[in-house]
Amino acid sequence: MNQDQLKQAVARAAIEHVVDGAVVGVGSGSTVGFFIRELGLVRHRVRGAVSSSERSSALLREQGIEVLDLDAVGTMPVYVDGADEIDGQLRMIKGGGGALTREKIVAAAAERFVCIVDASKVVPVMGRFPLPIEVIPMACGLVTRWCAQLGGEARLRAGFTTDNGNPILDVHGLRIADPVGLETEINQWPGVVTVGLFARRGADVALVADPAGLRTLTR
Ligand code: 5RP
Repeated sequence: MNQDQLKQAVARAAIEHVVDGAVVGVGSGSTVGFFIRELGLVRHRVRGAVSSSERSSALLREQGIEVLDLDAVGTMPVYVDGADEIDGQLRMIKGGGGALTREKIVAAAAERFVCIVDASKVVPVMGRFPLPIEVIPMACGLVTRWCAQLGGEARLRAGFTTDNGNPILDVHGLRIADPVGLETEINQWPGVVTVGLFARRGADVALVADPAGLRTLTR
């Protein structure tokens, strides 16, 4: 099985977690792209979706699924999203696609976070994947210096701005031994919009596809 086939398999399995008649929270990225296509096949089962990116909104509409405003919905039972890395306690690095801020907002409004990944994303300690931080433009230099004090090298993601109009710094060289502590620290730096560590609120369940089959991880 190639990686796309693994993503397809895990995306299909996530449909089991969608609650009939409810609104579903939808993340971003290529794995979620497969999930949205699967969701399109059962669109009569859902009331609509709250989306975490312009790209996912476009894909949802292509599938005939109504995209609803978070404020109109309030809460939803399930949020489905991918990850760039996930550890055994279901803490994640996200934001490889740049949608981390809206992803964190929609995830926070959901009762249950279902993470869908192929097995290459499961790691014992996070940090090999560069940690994305969305920042207010004028804070780039300041946040870069603070990252250096933590032993990380922040690189501006070239030619990219988020759906919110901000740049992203990708922080290389971190070994994240304390994800909750690091998320808490970076969250309080002036100029940081969102850090792509999802540790304080991790996933509730992870569906992991590898060539031998599907595994379900819970906290
Ligand atoms: C986007 C994300 C994605 O969930 C993450 O990058 C994984 O993407 P993919 O499914 O393409 O590997 O956080 O901001």
